[in-house]
Amino acid sequence: MLDLTNVRSTLAEHYDLAPNPDLAASMQDIYAKMDRVISPADWAIYAPYVKAINELKKTRNAVILGHNYMTPEIFHGVSDFVGDSLQLAMKATDVDADVIVQAGVHFMAETSKILSPEKTVLMPDMGAGCSLAESITAEGVEEMRAKYPGAPVVSYVNTTAEVKAASDICCTSSNAVQIVDAMESDTVIMTPDQFLAQNVANLSKKKVVFWPGSCIVHELYTADDLRAYRELDPEVKIIAHPECTPDVVAESDFTGSTSGIIKWVHDNKPAKAMLVTECSMASNIADELPEVEFAKPCNMCPYMKKISLEKILYVLHTMENQVEVDPDMATKARQSVQAMIDLSKKLGL
Ligand code: 13P
Ligand code: SF4
Repeated sequence: MLDLTNVRSTLAEHYDLAPNPDLAASMQDIYAKMDRVISPADWAIYAPYVKAINELKKTRNAVILGHNYMTPEIFHGVSDFVGDSLQLAMKATDVDADVIVQAGVHFMAETSKILSPEKTVLMPDMGAGCSLAESITAEGVEEMRAKYPGAPVVSYVNTTAEVKAASDICCTSSNAVQIVDAMESDTVIMTPDQFLAQNVANLSKKKVVFWPGSCIVHELYTADDLRAYRELDPEVKIIAHPECTPDVVAESDFTGSTSGIIKWVHDNKPAKAMLVTECSMASNIADELPEVEFAKPCNMCPYMKKISLEKILYVLHTMENQVEVDPDMATKARQSVQAMIDLSKKLGL
């Protein structure tokens, strides 16, 4: 756990991070990507961090992989590549850099390290976990195998390296149906997200059995809430992530991964859209889609929100918080992640 007092005093010794309206004005090209959602006063606070991080990235030959749930100043200000879990995992395999800073949660950084063991992977906050990744261990996978002998285990990438190593193949929200359908067996075990598994089962020809994990962000939405919202505002398009319950998915106009949601909004440009997912999603695309009015409510992921510009600058400066994965476990986990990447490429996903 980073000691924030130490973080601030260390950074203060090396960088001028005082709010700076003149600097902010000189970085208008970056601010233009988020000026509908970040006030000029806040941009004057963020700009010194954005400048320091972008300069330090060059010195360290580092890239920042930013998940779609990052706040706009991270998503637009310092990320070199942004995307959903699958896109970031693929990027980790071919990015040309010595250092990867994972602006996302811990399982994403572990996946990068598994795929690029020779690179230094930094986590701005080691406490940025995930309720799904925390819901199952390798013993849980073995329990499922004992219950359903011979059934392959498809584990969501939202899992630890240990669980990936104990699985046959991984999946993400953007390829889960296709990966499950590609398994030879009639019964497929999915871990750890019970709702993703049920949503996949509704679209797949396989019998899907699952572990009872859930995402604390997406499980909060209810179909009743969505129906009430639609009654108030019949024009709204409701777009959900497949970690939501099947009832919520049934009530939605479209369901997809975080990048799938962004693409759908770009392609369809509805007058009003309610993104049934993490709050930063709407903020990050508000500037490029001024014609779309984004309806609240949204839910925040407390893990993703642990990542800040200050912590990114600190780990890049000190090279602390390096993510390590036991080499033998990494080799086994890599087989599951690589099998997913290879199959996704083969299927053109
Ligand atoms: P995506 O793979 O759709 O980006 O989802 C990751 C995640 O953690 C969603 O809660
Ligand atoms: Fe995990 Fe849910 Fe947060 Fe995604 S939104 S990182 S699944 S807790």
